[in-house]
Amino acid sequence: MQRYSGVAMGLHWVMGLIMIGLLAVGLWMVDLPLAPFKFEVYQWHKSFGLLVLLLLVVRVGWRWTHPAPMLPVGTPRWQVKVAEFTHFLLYFLMLLMPLSGWLMSDAAGYRPHFFGLAVPLLWAQDSVVAGWAKWVHEMAGKALIGLLILHVGAAVHHHLIVRDGILLRMVPKGLRLPQPKLFGLVLAGILPFGAVQAVEWQVVPEGSKLEWEARYSGSQIIGNFGVWQAEIRLNPDDLADAKVRVVVEVASVGSGDENRDKTLKGIDFFDAVGHPKAVFESSKVSKTSAGFVAAGTLTLAGVSKPLALPFTLQIQGDGAQRLALAQGQVSLSRNAFGVGKGEWQGNATIADLVVVKYVVKATLK
Ligand code: HEM
Ligand code: HEM
Repeated sequence: MQRYSGVAMGLHWVMGLIMIGLLAVGLWMVDLPLAPFKFEVYQWHKSFGLLVLLLLVVRVGWRWTHPAPMLPVGTPRWQVKVAEFTHFLLYFLMLLMPLSGWLMSDAAGYRPHFFGLAVPLLWAQDSVVAGWAKWVHEMAGKALIGLLILHVGAAVHHHLIVRDGILLRMVPKGLRLPQPKLFGLVLAGILPFGAVQAVEWQVVPEGSKLEWEARYSGSQIIGNFGVWQAEIRLNPDDLADAKVRVVVEVASVGSGDENRDKTLKGIDFFDAVGHPKAVFESSKVSKTSAGFVAAGTLTLAGVSKPLALPFTLQIQGDGAQRLALAQGQVSLSRNAFGVGKGEWQGNATIADLVVVKYVVKATLK
């Protein structure tokens, strides 16, 4: 799982605490009796509010140059969109709140200072502007409270119910957060939505290929299969229900030579008439130090044998634009499947081991 950078986390939590504090103090201070204490509280509110504006400049600069880590692949598309929109609105409100507060104070003739330091005058005294800015400050404050209920609610929901580690993306590595099961179950009864959806991939034929390399009388022959389909269900963050099924039309074998291809499709090799399809079906997909491995069964020329397909996986882009590139290779004993009978059997003319190479490009279904 990818995390936000330390700087992004630091800014998020410092600014988040200040924002929540300012909302609470703002709502409380307006009803204080008119006395020097009230003005003092107002000044602190203004100083911390202006601090948010200053930190926001740093934060937006950092975010611009350090994109947010990708959400887990299994996150439903609508949730990616809602999260992006909510985060955008939160940034917007972190700008609107201090600006409207600053404008209101200037226009009302109560020029703010920043912890004792003078700040530029945004607007001359003007009761109409002061009235508008006050309205915006109040309304934006209410909108922010609503949005934060959604934002914090979503973070808690992901942590306790969906349990997909979203909250941990904003928490330093090594810091353990409690994840009480019972509380989650109670909440699950109230909020029964949002489970990670199955992640199905659609193969993009351009950029995908299935090739093989064999040795014939000491020289290398490179060939391919032109027609194959794959069903791929794979969420790299949760491999429990992962499934890979590949069906190859063996008659689509090609080796760059018509006569040789005819022989390969014949009864001594792939037997395209008797066994037109070769099928690989995984029973388990697991992580390895180099990437992943799909263990399962290959049925070729009517013979079924266990096979493990190692592959690396790169996923680029976000949301609907996600693009996956999986590639790897495996060595097969062709004799184990009876491919190459009679005079072709063994290891003499054609080497027993054939290397199969695969590159699969896919988009989210
Ligand atoms: C207890 C309070 C909070 C919790 C538990 C919390 C949790 C989180 C988490 C887990 C993320 C990362 C989401 C992801 O992985 O995509 C996040 C992002 C964010 N949070 Fe909060 N948050 C809290 C308070 C706040 C407050 C008060 C604000 C601002 C007013 C805020 C603004 C943001 C923004 C703008 C992002 C997006 C960061 C980015 O992608 O650049 N959060 N929050
Ligand atoms: C940056 C985040 C800020 C937040 C979250 C925030 C929040 C709030 C809230 C919730 C209120 C109560 C509004 C109501 O009457 O319902 C308030 C009032 C107020 N805020 Fe802010 N504020 C921020 C920044 C600022 C800044 C930078 C200034 C000025 C430089 C400012 C000046 C004021 C003033 C003067 C009031 C009182 C308005 C009145 O008397 O009705 N605020 N603020």
